[in-house]
Amino acid sequence: MSSLKPLSGKVALVTGASRGIGKAIALKLASDGAKIVVNYAGNAAAAEEVVKQIGSEHAIAIKANAGSVSEITTLIDSTIQHYGKLDILVACAGIMPLNELEKVTEEEFDNIFNLNVKGPMFLAQKATPHMAPGSRIILFSTTLCAASTVTPNYLAYVSSKGAIEQMTRVMSKDLARKGIMVNCVAPGPTGTELFMHGKSEQVLKMIAGFNPQGRIGRPEEIAGVVGFLVGEGSSWVTGQMVRVNGGMA
Ligand SMILES: NC(=O)c1ccc[n+]([C@@H]2O[C@H](COP(=O)([O-])OP(=O)(O)OC[C@H]3O[C@@H](n4cnc5c(N)ncnc54)[C@H](OP(=O)(O)O)[C@@H]3O)[C@@H](O)[C@H]2O)c1
Repeated sequence: MSSLKPLSGKVALVTGASRGIGKAIALKLASDGAKIVVNYAGNAAAAEEVVKQIGSEHAIAIKANAGSVSEITTLIDSTIQHYGKLDILVACAGIMPLNELEKVTEEEFDNIFNLNVKGPMFLAQKATPHMAPGSRIILFSTTLCAASTVTPNYLAYVSSKGAIEQMTRVMSKDLARKGIMVNCVAPGPTGTELFMHGKSEQVLKMIAGFNPQGRIGRPEEIAGVVGFLVGEGSSWVTGQMVRVNGGMA
């Protein structure tokens, strides 16, 4: 039996890896042996802390707005300059401003769609010329796309994630020619700043109560599934939405 870790020799870029689910993914893929690019938007101290946790010989932090095509281009170029290749792209960075139809502004809509939809598409476009057959792309949706109920203020956010699910479906066909697998992870409520922000204890308890398991998920529970989807065991899985939600939907 080989003592090599499952992702030894692989290079992974995780957007939004300074906090939340992205951070848990960076730590999981690093523990499986991959070298990591920890992308972040503004929180340099948090990103450097993730690099420190992994070990600076195995990770680098790169600041870039993952919703801007020019910054995405620089992010991919810097990744290739530093590590010489890219095997795993995890487009995890996302934002979730919540407003009902009458209150959504053009600026808010553009911010959501730039990061949540335009970013992942152009990340994939700029990354794939550097990715060998067998490489993996993971996009991020939400379980709310499949839940039977959703509150009206999720309008723009869930619309952006619906776009990601269609992007996954079609991109997986396109990139099959290159042997690159594209899958989508759709978490249920998960204990991160994005989800907790602005919610009272009472609301959090109520949301936990909607789940058949009676709790919200942990970032590590999402990262474990990403670990599977970028590993050897999922070489025949592409174009799929994987809902990770404790049975909520
Ligand atoms: N948490 C949930 O319940 C839940 C449920 C379903 C789906 N999701 C999806 O899971 C993904 C991760 O969510 P999360 O809960 O981990 O979010 P989070 O805790 O708010 O973390 C967001 C991360 O994204 C980074 N980021 C924000 N804007 C960025 C930009 N313009 N460019 C690059 N990075 C940027 C942040 O960097 P800085 O630290 O520098 O600000 C941070 O690392 C998102 O796509 C989200 O929609 C989450």
